[in-house]
Amino acid sequence: MTELAKLSASDRAALSLELEQRYNAFKAQGLKLDMTRGKPAPEQLDLASKLTVLLAESDYKGSDGSDARNYGGLDGLPEMKAIFAEMLGAPPAQVVVGGASSLTMMHDTVVRALLHGVPGGTEPWGRSKTKFICPVPGYDRHFAICEHHGIEMLSVALSDDGPDMAEVERLVASDPAIKGMWCVPKYSNPTGTTYSDAVVKRLAAMKTAAPDFRLFWDNAYAVHDLYETGDSLANVLTACAEAGNANRAIVFGSTSKISFAGAGVAALASSPANIADVKKHSGIQTIGPDKLNQLRHVRFFKDFAGVIAHMHKHAELLRPKFEAVIEAFEKELGGRGVATWTKPHGGYFISLDTLDGCAAEVVRLADAAGVKLTAAGATFPYGKDPRDRNIRVAPSMPPLTQVRTAMEVVAVCVLLASAKKLGA
Ligand SMILES: Cc1ncc(COP(=O)(O)O)c(C=O)c1O
Repeated sequence: MTELAKLSASDRAALSLELEQRYNAFKAQGLKLDMTRGKPAPEQLDLASKLTVLLAESDYKGSDGSDARNYGGLDGLPEMKAIFAEMLGAPPAQVVVGGASSLTMMHDTVVRALLHGVPGGTEPWGRSKTKFICPVPGYDRHFAICEHHGIEMLSVALSDDGPDMAEVERLVASDPAIKGMWCVPKYSNPTGTTYSDAVVKRLAAMKTAAPDFRLFWDNAYAVHDLYETGDSLANVLTACAEAGNANRAIVFGSTSKISFAGAGVAALASSPANIADVKKHSGIQTIGPDKLNQLRHVRFFKDFAGVIAHMHKHAELLRPKFEAVIEAFEKELGGRGVATWTKPHGGYFISLDTLDGCAAEVVRLADAAGVKLTAAGATFPYGKDPRDRNIRVAPSMPPLTQVRTAMEVVAVCVLLASAKKLGA
């Protein structure tokens, strides 16, 4: 296909007319398609529906003999800790199991640091200006935590193997106000990027002006491979310990997109000093997490191998939807020179980059034709994409046929907005 920019003005005008007709035909269908949030589809949730009926009346004891119906077990049932130990890459003693949401654990970790500081620091972060490095495009809810608590965000570009490390190293070395960095190191939201071993090593070893700098290592998609061979991610806790920065990383994860979103189990893992600090605070916050939920998860998955086997079933459902998005983009946009898109091997999202200045218009056009997309700018701090070009595509939730239709509409919208931009 010819690049739009290389078409003669009259050819581009003819193409625009054709696109308008296709667009109006979609509009006339009265579509109502939602591609906004990365939620599991009902069929994915059905895979774990046994969880709702799994515990028998007499089945409430953990392997340590504790009664899961009662208070206690602040850091989780041993069997649950063992599963997260493998998922997050730490010994079980360095795991704390929380409630149902890893985002809550991240939020609380930030707030505790603002109010009380962290091991190795001299004062609570909140006493002075606090800044976080935010690889972009990234996860809107990470950015919302910073914005909500007055933490200044510094954007750093994410490339194919992780964040631009030269820029990250330059920033953290010179500014002691930079206390943290958000990382979704495997199948990053929204690009699907997995950090290379070299990037993990540099993040673990880099010199930071702040002695109490933390990597918020959100490994939300640790086991969410779409293909038999998934991307591999280096163990950040080991890398940090080897570099003499044992307290640098805090790793988060959950079963939200393994069992049930909002009714799964979340956990964090870190160094012994950080874990002791977490327990100190969480012992004030709660008398113990929901261990019945942990117990039914343990009964259902049995062990980490059980989790992996379960994720193969998710992959069967998700893979066709991801491939449908890529196919639609390749068919409609391939060779046109107006967009690029990622081809993740796992996770929940595909990232689409339009020509500069077109993303908001594409989202507007798609919405008017009945296809809801995540707001343009959402993948950047403060909701502002400086180039107005990134769109996050979330194909998990709608049925496959709807994903196909929605992506054809989006592709037509990209072509229309691009033709207008190029002066059709
Ligand atoms: C990168 C990332 N982290 C965390 C979450 C939310 O996790 P949880 O349900 O455990 O709070 C999501 C959900 O979309 C996500 O994409």
